[in-house]
This record gives sequence, C-alpha cells and structure tokens, in this order.
Amino acid sequence: QQQHPVRLRINGQDREFNVESWVTLLDLLRERAGMTGTKKGCDQGQCGACTVLVDGKRINSCLTLAVMQDGREITTVEGLATGDDLHPLQQAFIDCDAFQCGYCTPGQLCSAVGLISEGQATSRDDVRELMSGNLCRCGAYPQIADAVIKVLD
Ligand code: FES
Repeated sequence: QQQHPVRLRINGQDREFNVESWVTLLDLLRERAGMTGTKKGCDQGQCGACTVLVDGKRINSCLTLAVMQDGREITTVEGLATGDDLHPLQQAFIDCDAFQCGYCTPGQLCSAVGLISEGQATSRDDVRELMSGNLCRCGAYPQIADAVIKVLD
C-alpha cells in the first residue's frame, strides 16, 4: 500500500506520519500518535465520541481521512489542560458530575470547547441542541449542559 506523508501539529507538537490514504484521522490519532483519549464509538459519524478540534473547529475524526488534514492543528482531550491546570470545562465537568462511565467525555469536552468558541450558544437549550451530536449512553445530558453553561456564564 502506498503511504503518504501527513504533517500535523497535535496538541502543540509538530508530528509527521506516513499513512495509507484510507486511514482516518481518528485511527491516526489513536494508533499512531498515541492519543488514545479520543474514543471510537460508532466509527460512522453518529456518536461524537471521536470529536477533536481541527484548527479550533470541532469535527468527528472518524469521518475524515488523515491525509485530508495535512498541515492542520489538532487538539485532542490530552491537549486541553495547561500543565497541571485543568481546562475550565474539565473542571466544570467534575464539579457538575457531567459523566458516569466517561467514555463519551473526551468527545463531549472537545465539542464543548468548539461550541464555546463558535459563540452561538447562549442558553441551556442552545447547548443541548448544538451538542446533540455527542451521545451519552449514561444519560448525563443535564449535567453536561450544566457544566457547559457554567463556563459560558
Ligand atoms: Fe466518530 Fe462515533 S466514532 S462519531
């Protein structure tokens, strides 16, 4: 299989990979970049567990090919904290008990970071609507909305 060079800045570090054209960004992150915080749920764009930020915009990383993201800046859940300081959303998730099993949490967090920077969510209903692509099988939706609203306020 022919391989293609892909250069990415992942959580502030410049990285280079050689990947087959069919490798998704999700698989590159998990299997080649060691960023296993990003989760694979459905692998079909339906659950949001794989959400990461590409140049600051949230994206389902299972739906894009790594070669399509050459030159981009990727932020995963591993890149949200600053040193020992949690990202305000991470702290809010803890404060609001916004998870149970935690599997969806990395995607929820990245989605919420993207949502806040989009600047379109002003209410709890907005948060619920604009994060509806991030499923939580434990049903922690009210607490997730609480956490996001806490940071928005
Ligand atoms: Fe990508 Fe479910 S794993 S949306």
